[in-house]
Amino acid sequence: MATLQIEKWERWFLYATVVVLVAFFIAIVASIGEAGIHLPTDEAQVDPAAVASGDVPPFDNPGVYELPDGSYQAVVVAKAWSFSPAEIELPAGADVEFVVTSTDVIHGFLIADVAVNGMVIPGQVLKVNATFDEAGVYDIICHEYCGLAHNQMFGQVKVGGAG
Ligand code: CUA
Repeated sequence: MATLQIEKWERWFLYATVVVLVAFFIAIVASIGEAGIHLPTDEAQVDPAAVASGDVPPFDNPGVYELPDGSYQAVVVAKAWSFSPAEIELPAGADVEFVVTSTDVIHGFLIADVAVNGMVIPGQVLKVNATFDEAGVYDIICHEYCGLAHNQMFGQVKVGGAG
């Protein structure tokens, strides 16, 4: 009679694999439900060529806007190799929603000090929130390789009249 022979350690590795898979699944569900992390969806698709021609609001007027509730929205267009606007000015304590898209290739949108870290994908809209409690100059870095001048692609957030 043939029985399935599984080595003791092999069996433990199988158990460990299942535990890790379940843990990752729980982490993904928790990040969606608790942390509000989500992937780009169909709701926020744009035509990159139309954005480039200035035909797609709000990207036809990149800049910083104060909203009725006192928070801010920063509309940013990324393209090789700059962010528009390159400088964003905000008062200290500002809550900001960045709304970002690309007209050409994939760019990055990283502001390390406020834990903003997104991919800017042509055709998709990146929305990410941040609060700038402290006055200062914060660098916006493109951290997805996007061609020859990728290393020179950056912007700045100037908070509280700094810089
Ligand atoms: Cu844009 Cu790297």
